[in-house]
Amino acid sequence: MSIISKDIQKAIRLLTDDELVAIPTETVYGLAGNVFSEKAIKHIFSTKKRPFFNPLIVHLSGVEALENIVAHVPDKATLLAATFWPGPLTMVLKKNNKIPDIITAGKDTVAVRVPNHPVTLELLRQLPFPLAAPSANPFGSISPTKPSHVERYFKNDIKQVLDGGSCKNGIESTIVGFENNEPVLYRLGALSIEAIEAVVGKVSVKNKKEQSPDAPGMLARHYAPSTQTLLVDAVAEEIKKHAGKKIGILVFKDSLNNTSFTEIVLSKKGSLQEAASKLYDSLHELDDQKLDVIITERFPDSGLGKSINDRLQRATFSL
Ligand code: TXA
Ligand code: MG
Repeated sequence: MSIISKDIQKAIRLLTDDELVAIPTETVYGLAGNVFSEKAIKHIFSTKKRPFFNPLIVHLSGVEALENIVAHVPDKATLLAATFWPGPLTMVLKKNNKIPDIITAGKDTVAVRVPNHPVTLELLRQLPFPLAAPSANPFGSISPTKPSHVERYFKNDIKQVLDGGSCKNGIESTIVGFENNEPVLYRLGALSIEAIEAVVGKVSVKNKKEQSPDAPGMLARHYAPSTQTLLVDAVAEEIKKHAGKKIGILVFKDSLNNTSFTEIVLSKKGSLQEAASKLYDSLHELDDQKLDVIITERFPDSGLGKSINDRLQRATFSL
């Protein structure tokens, strides 16, 4: 029987019983548990096979709930919350002592956001506790943007995927921390740097590719298909190097018009928003086709194009 269901009351019962539920957000599906339940949080790490050094994002029903979680909110964080919440912005703030260490990997900061999805907002409003939720995929693999993606990953591990349809943004939230009360970008994501800078001025960027980084979602290899995946500027040129192979192609807007390959065009009209929303679903689809290689096209390096390139780079980085 499918674990996908729209039953919010069931999700409330499960979460209250320290169980996990996959929840829809505007970015990707999250694997959620009660922030204050050690059992649930440990279950999140074991289900994802996620290392304990990688902290979780706490999801709140609204900005009012922030005071229960954090010790200090810089002025620019208040401004960003007022502008972008609910929405795909995660902020890393000084935590208060109610937040368990396992959530924050022992750090004195906690990542928080108010997701912009009607089903999950309703769920959060009805629950007496916030939800910790990493993306609902095994550590390192492609994030889920549809209930069916989560079901495939975790049907033997969890009892419910709360069905909220396909994720509108399709790429994880942008993560901003604060150093000396000034914003620092830790992870590129669904909210562009340009949009953030329009509100708070220049933001410095620490979105590095590392083996053991400060924000571990920044691991060099992450979001990766199991098929060998490449990121190139000139797809047509690259194809010539793979004669005789079964090739999958992922391009931004212009088709190569060659029927000998499996090709996905992310946005015929050239919309970065549309391309981002289809990115992971398309990678899932190509990865399912037992190809020898997936060749992806580098995006224009501005706005959401930057975030898409970041994910493609991590998907294609080989150790
Ligand atoms: O869009 C999203 O953010 C999704 C949905 C479900 O909300 N969640 C998500 O969670 O992408 P996850 O666990 O896959 O990525 C969370 C990232 C990790 O890179 C983690 O290292 C970083 O947030 N993070 C969490 N707490 C942090 C902290 N205190 N300091 C620095 N980075 C932190
Ligand atoms: Mg993730």
